[in-house]
Amino acid sequence: FLTTMASSFTVCRLHMRGRILSKRYCSSALSSAEKIECKSLHALQVERQDQAEKSVLISCQSRTSEKKFLKFLSKHGDIKKYFFYESYGVYAVVEFASRDSVSSLLESATIPSISQESIVPFKSRLLSIRNLSSVNQQLNRKHLGFLLLGCVEQQILSLTKAYQLTEENSRLRFLVCSLLKDIAAAYFPECTIRPFGSSVNGFGKLGCDLDMFLDLDSISGVCLQPKSGFSLEYQMKRVNSERAITQSVLSVIGECVDQFGPGCAGVQKILNARCPLVRFSHQPSGFQCDLTANNRVAMKSTELLYLYGELDPRVRSLVFTIRSWARSHGITSSIPGAWITNFSLTIMVLFFLQRRGPPIIPTLDHLRDLAGPEDRSMIEGSDCTFVRDFSKIQLQNNTETLEQLLCEFFEFYATFPFSRMSINIRKGKEQNKPEMSPLHIQNPFETSLNVSKNVNSTQLDRFMALCQESSWLLQQNKTSTPNNTPTPWGLATLLLPSQVAGIKSGKKRRREPASERIKSLLESLKKQNQEKTG
Ligand code: CTP
Ligand code: MG
Repeated sequence: FLTTMASSFTVCRLHMRGRILSKRYCSSALSSAEKIECKSLHALQVERQDQAEKSVLISCQSRTSEKKFLKFLSKHGDIKKYFFYESYGVYAVVEFASRDSVSSLLESATIPSISQESIVPFKSRLLSIRNLSSVNQQLNRKHLGFLLLGCVEQQILSLTKAYQLTEENSRLRFLVCSLLKDIAAAYFPECTIRPFGSSVNGFGKLGCDLDMFLDLDSISGVCLQPKSGFSLEYQMKRVNSERAITQSVLSVIGECVDQFGPGCAGVQKILNARCPLVRFSHQPSGFQCDLTANNRVAMKSTELLYLYGELDPRVRSLVFTIRSWARSHGITSSIPGAWITNFSLTIMVLFFLQRRGPPIIPTLDHLRDLAGPEDRSMIEGSDCTFVRDFSKIQLQNNTETLEQLLCEFFEFYATFPFSRMSINIRKGKEQNKPEMSPLHIQNPFETSLNVSKNVNSTQLDRFMALCQESSWLLQQNKTSTPNNTPTPWGLATLLLPSQVAGIKSGKKRRREPASERIKSLLESLKKQNQEKTG
């Protein structure tokens, strides 16, 4: 009935967004899910990891009877939460109340019998269920009609709501880390794999990549050395640098993922990068994964971004809007190159919010000054200390609306003296540029580094020109009010590349799926309207 899944998929749709088909939470569970919002990132990660370890990922036939499916699984114990989603077929994430239930379920699973192919006998918590009869599943498609409705403020809030990571998507990210940990645990049983970056920093959009950190620091021996008598120590291989260890660990784990990892495809080992990584596609979840090790500073910057996003709801909404805007104009891209990255863009938004009068968020230096001894953190010579207790942070009374902030953001960067000045969220004030890269954004913790070193002047010019154009377009909107005709309005104007006239990229711009969908939606509504009135 249940078979461990070792087959590989042939279809490759890396950035496909999974659709949630149905979900169930008991009422107490729902309220705890809502409460997650005000937790520290650490508490949130501990809770999510625990959920993930009690969960299994099951590939279902498209017409699986939900009732029978649950009845069958609950033979192994109480199911706490579950949901179905669609990505390369239908999948279910099932969280049991106890780990014993997962062990019991795994014991009952069989190895698939395949006649033509051979299988790698690696057992994981990724399973397939078969022989179930039909069910009626309602597809819950997200639609983009919101872009036609309401004022800019409402449009921004709707955009944020529609694209931010859902509870289910976030659980799936932790589950994929937990599945990967099972592979790495073959060599390093005490390791943990934690998500970082936009999967957990509060600024993740559905479909964003899954950045994972293989943490070997949790592997520890007994620290106390006895004063006399015998003591034992492990004999361990010595290597000449931390970097060499990271490279060899990632090389071996990458090889295991490639050779044994169910559902893992397209594994690339990028070990000579500044931050060595293994990149692959996890097909059952549809996530593009980047596995790194020894990348603790990035964990801290994730925590910092999370904190800023929690301080004021306008932070997340503005970052979301700017990220969507940048993506629809090809300012950012999923392909590595001379473009501005989402991380750089997020820091630019944070910097802008620090420059408001009064500032909406404090500087990083201020957060460091508020830190207590428990917050102290030095990583490889970089001071990563900042306060983590939100209640110690006093905010100033800034009442600007999101619409004002969006407009001001575009004005601010349309005229920013990029040629002379560097963006610095530590000081909350632009600083003289220490080197001549076109765009200089100081890395918040590794202060000698520029996070946007990759950006060339063509890309920076495009960004500035688009800021100028978008600011102008928003000014035009102020003089006209929204009406009931489905013409692009407010934020919708900004997200349609065709609306932003006069911007020449030199190269033919690739149209992004989101803006394509918005465009076709607008066109079909326009047509409907013409049919009605005509
Ligand atoms: N990071 C960093 N310094 C950089 C690039 C990245 O510290 N020069 C850290 C940041 O914490 C960032 C994380 O690594 O959030 C992951 O990087 P990346 O995947 O490039 O950015 P995300 O914030 O995850 O955004 P996206 O949705 O585009 O993946
Ligand atoms: Mg990322």
